Amino acid sequence: MARASAPGKLILYGEHAVVFGEPALATAIDLRTEVYARLHDEWLVDGASLQDSKYAYVRRAVENTWDGPPLWIEIRSMIPLGCGLGSSAAVTVATLGALAALKGRIDIGALAKDAFEVEQSVQGRASPIDTSTSCHGSAVVVRRQEGEDVLWAIEKGDRRWLLHHASLPTTNLVVGNTGIAAPTGPLVAAVKDRVERDPRAADAIREIGEITIDGLRAFERGDFVRAGELMDRDHELLNLLGVGHPLLEKFVAAARPHAFGAKLTGAGGGGSMFALTDDPEAVRTAIERAGGKAFVVATESKGLEAAP
Ligand code: PMV
Repeated sequence: MARASAPGKLILYGEHAVVFGEPALATAIDLRTEVYARLHDEWLVDGASLQDSKYAYVRRAVENTWDGPPLWIEIRSMIPLGCGLGSSAAVTVATLGALAALKGRIDIGALAKDAFEVEQSVQGRASPIDTSTSCHGSAVVVRRQEGEDVLWAIEKGDRRWLLHHASLPTTNLVVGNTGIAAPTGPLVAAVKDRVERDPRAADAIREIGEITIDGLRAFERGDFVRAGELMDRDHELLNLLGVGHPLLEKFVAAARPHAFGAKLTGAGGGGSMFALTDDPEAVRTAIERAGGKAFVVATESKGLEAAP
């Protein structure tokens, strides 16, 4: 039997804009998904059919990379589903990791690309930020220009992403979850539509790209005040792109008096927000009083771990 595990992620800056080829910065978090796989006489996922739509990422990972006999696959996840914390990326990476471990060949670079292709084909349109962060762990920055610590590169039409490792100081991040699961694919499609129709939305995409690079620099020099201001502005621009939600506004407003900054994270439309703070308990309490489910997350250095 093979076992693999991969972390969830938090996008600090750049969600949605990254799908257009703009920069984004994400960190792996200490919530993980585990996948177990062993040979079996029929295909099963958690005892159910591989054809079940809730296993779309697992099925695509199998179709793209496995030509062996049927498997029994089991998934155990600590990452809440559809809440912007990278549950689908983690299940994709961990499934690919378990399949690679069964084959006895784990090539992290190739696996990160395979994971992006799986997410792109299930979601319709995607960027490599989620799957790469889950695969490599620590913090990952995607940008157009080549810097130090390049992990890998990919092009899709006129979009080009160069993935790099980033090193961030230890921070306190508090997540507020709306409990509303909003699928990423339709939100990404709606943003594309808006950008094609509205020049202000196209400007917002470009500004988010600039914010990401400034935000990365602020984090690198430990300037959390500036990092927080940039988070707040990024949040405003994401609202302009139409991916906000009244509950996210409520939680962001509750968190801000105790935080350097707060913004939605991931696809939005529900899902989660997070705050950067030096008083995590105050932020957690404030979000819970506003009706959210809040938890403190730590950044995670370990990416994919897989063993036969
Ligand atoms: O909400 P999540 O975890 O699916 O994150 C989506 C991030 C987007 O930028 C909106 C899409 C992408 O593929 O980068």
